[in-house]
Amino acid sequence: MACHPAVKNINKMRKIKLLEYSELENRKPVGKQVNGLDLVIIKYENNLSVLYGRCLHRGALMADGHIDGDNIICGVHDWDFRIDTGVSEYDNNEALHKFHSEIEDGYVLVDEEEINKYLNEHPQPFNRDEYLGQYADTNPQDTEPYNSYIKELAKNGLKNWGHHGPSASMGVDRNTLPKWEDIQFLPAQLASRPLLDDQEVSTKVVIGRSANKPLELAIPVFVSDMSFGSLSKEAKVALSIGAELSGTGICSGEGGMLPEEQANNSRYFYELASGKFGFSWDKVKKAQAFHFKGGQGAKTGTGGHLPGNKVTEEIAEVRDLKAGESAITLSCFS
Ligand code: FES
Repeated sequence: MACHPAVKNINKMRKIKLLEYSELENRKPVGKQVNGLDLVIIKYENNLSVLYGRCLHRGALMADGHIDGDNIICGVHDWDFRIDTGVSEYDNNEALHKFHSEIEDGYVLVDEEEINKYLNEHPQPFNRDEYLGQYADTNPQDTEPYNSYIKELAKNGLKNWGHHGPSASMGVDRNTLPKWEDIQFLPAQLASRPLLDDQEVSTKVVIGRSANKPLELAIPVFVSDMSFGSLSKEAKVALSIGAELSGTGICSGEGGMLPEEQANNSRYFYELASGKFGFSWDKVKKAQAFHFKGGQGAKTGTGGHLPGNKVTEEIAEVRDLKAGESAITLSCFS
């Protein structure tokens, strides 16, 4: 059978059979592989094209697409490539490589050397022995940011995440928090007379005025409850000393009482939360304030998770856990 005039003569090359010519239907793309390279073969009237078989957008199989006029259209997002040249009409810079082919003794032949050269220059990312390996995304883009995440879940379920699924440390952008400069103090005029510049202003706050042991803070702020584990020992102790120097207190957070933190602050708040880590009523006696956390304040409705790899010997001891054991805080008291 005669070659198509556009098809280079490959008599001197290493011919490899792709398929029988009679298997091809007019304008119906067929996929084949040679040495792991995907090809798409298109017969159109008396012509034949053998093109690289993966879409240049995200790597879909072009054999899964369809022919529309002079183009083969990818079945995923409709990228188009000319069937005669492989060049995209939409963007001429994108072109599926066209391989030399010929028909001999009823078979479609290609040149194995050309295929291997192409493979050398364009290593293929498809590991077909792997689950979903056939569908590797050759060009991941942030327009579809969850593709690889969905594939990872399809492949491994929650094995690599833990039963809570993906979790990350909490955090709020500084710019989205209220700022001190947003506070407007109502100016005093007549009903409350303004103070003169040299008059002293007390910032003292008393918590539990009628309690047996009221707690007095020199300023109306204290260091709130971040647990040992979410913060390092160094940070906890430094904050405790800083609070003490400022005349105010610090709260243990839900991660138990870090002895050095408690010892460095005389206005210590000791917290009981749903995780009850290392909690004991004996330790309450060492504190100046008992802090009860009924729900997860910053983590509304979700509870907390300190991953096992962060639970060191020391954190484990304070929290009454085993080293390496994840610390799970329930979303409410059980
Ligand atoms: S993968 Fe082919 S158009 Fe997107």
